[in-house]
Amino acid sequence: MSLKEKIDKAKLPRHVAIIMDGNGRWAKQRGRLRTFGHENGVTSVRETAEAAAELGIECLTLYAFSTENWKRPRREIEALMSLLPRTINTELKTLHKNNISLKAIGDLEALSPKTRSRLMKAIDDTKHHTRMNLILALSYSSHFELVQATKSIARKVKNGELEVNDITDETISKHLFTKDFPDPELLIRTSGEYRISNFLLWQLAYAELYFTPKLWPDFRKEDFYEAIIDFQHRERRFGRTSEQLSEKVKV
Ligand code: FPP
Repeated sequence: MSLKEKIDKAKLPRHVAIIMDGNGRWAKQRGRLRTFGHENGVTSVRETAEAAAELGIECLTLYAFSTENWKRPRREIEALMSLLPRTINTELKTLHKNNISLKAIGDLEALSPKTRSRLMKAIDDTKHHTRMNLILALSYSSHFELVQATKSIARKVKNGELEVNDITDETISKHLFTKDFPDPELLIRTSGEYRISNFLLWQLAYAELYFTPKLWPDFRKEDFYEAIIDFQHRERRFGRTSEQLSEKVKV
């Protein structure tokens, strides 16, 4: 039985988020510049997006560039910013072939005009695709997102559109970049690091966390399947007890 066949299609996570880490170390192991690792990470992006779409996962969010990544050396930032439009150009056919809709979350105004306009065009070109949302987190951090959401809610309170006592969990969720997507049920981080790194902090409240030592450029479909199988063996309790779950207590 192949790994893919071991996956229970009835118990798939609706949304998987990935912290793609280890590109720099992968390149260093080969005596190459860090950017070589990023370029090779594109194959892993393609493989993972295809695997997720083929399985029937609704949303895949990839952490491609954090607000903190702007502190990296200028040349690496430039390389990453030019890799994005190039990757969109080469991968657009994969998105069309697999009926995948491209989306983006983050401080997109911070991207260069060229990068942003290529991204926006690809988002528009793929907006009718229905099989899966591929969401790129670009110039993204949870702190930035939560500050924006707080400002937006505060403005509504000030304008009299919203009462303070009416603010709920849902109010916060509806003001996040991810308002149109379900919360991720599974977070994967590659490269053996055990951190969340300011990624989807609100949305990951009940997510299962999966860490693998694989460096991102080595990550392939089989690695994705392993993460899904691991997820399917977890007991998701959402604050309840095991006994309650096995008694099928009404939720
Ligand atoms: C983290 O590895 C990776 C990034 C900051 C960039 C991720 C970008 C890609 C995979 C390129 C392709 C993606 C798109 C969507 C065009 P790191 O540099 O922090 O690695 P290290 O921890 O080994 O130094």
